Amino acid sequence: MSRVLIADKLETAGIELLAAAGVEVDNRPGLKGDELKAAIRAADAVICRSQPKLTAEFFDEPGKCRAVARAGVGVDNIDVPAATRKGVVVMNTPGGNTVSAAEHTIALLLALARRIPVADATMKAGGWDRNKFVGTEVAGKTLGVVGLGRIGREVARRAKAMDMRVIALDPFVTAAKAAELGYETAANLDEMLPKVDFLTLHVPLGQDTKSLIGARELGLMKKTARVLNVARGGIVDEAALAAALAAGTIAGAGVDVFTAEPIVADNPLLKAPNIVLTPHLGASTLEAQENVAIEAAQLIADFLLKGQVANAV
Ligand code: MLT
Repeated sequence: MSRVLIADKLETAGIELLAAAGVEVDNRPGLKGDELKAAIRAADAVICRSQPKLTAEFFDEPGKCRAVARAGVGVDNIDVPAATRKGVVVMNTPGGNTVSAAEHTIALLLALARRIPVADATMKAGGWDRNKFVGTEVAGKTLGVVGLGRIGREVARRAKAMDMRVIALDPFVTAAKAAELGYETAANLDEMLPKVDFLTLHVPLGQDTKSLIGARELGLMKKTARVLNVARGGIVDEAALAAALAAGTIAGAGVDVFTAEPIVADNPLLKAPNIVLTPHLGASTLEAQENVAIEAAQLIADFLLKGQVANAV
């Protein structure tokens, strides 16, 4: 009987799928260090989310382990080249949390535009100030979308439904395709940034996207613009963003993802003004977690029982 280690909290639907497929489930979220290494070696496959950091040392001696499925999109917590070198295939579930991530982006956008978190906190502290929290309409405003993949497209579609003008930046989407969807395109960030009222990023974190938005880029934006990052920490330079917010050279930011997670106490964003923070909640809905659990479990069941590989990264 094949054995699967569940190394993170996984919705029951995924565990039930594996059990029904006749796979032994070793459900031990939260394992670390040597215990995690031993559990990986003893399993034919592993399912995780973003919690365990599967660095190269976990693949030095992978034992029986031949596959890792990430219940989610980003595989930045897994050393994929190290796994590949040892014959361990890494797969992800890119579709399951698209809608949730897009909705969370829009939630942050509206929370910023209407200053909802600060108004809520003020009221709960006994205040009632209708003049202090004058917001801005989003209709007629311009949203810059960097990365028109699954999530970027869903965000752009929702923004259009709110009568926003959308400018997209994605090397894989032609101006003709964007126009068909009702969007404009920009050739590069320098062209896009001065035009946008809101900027949202939907690209993976990599060498080419690390600090994609830094002090120089923030300096190109309008003082009234707001930045959203529901993609990955580090795509926006945190120190530069905090400095721009403190200086008032941009108007606000909504951030769900951080360079270090859980966020560290000296992260400059914690003290920045006009910022709405959430603790990596983009995919945290019942629906998304069920979707990705089922998709990851199906990937592993198909791999172990039929020798199929899908969504390899
Ligand atoms: C993802 O990569 O799927 C999302 O950021 C959510 C998560 O990390 O669980």
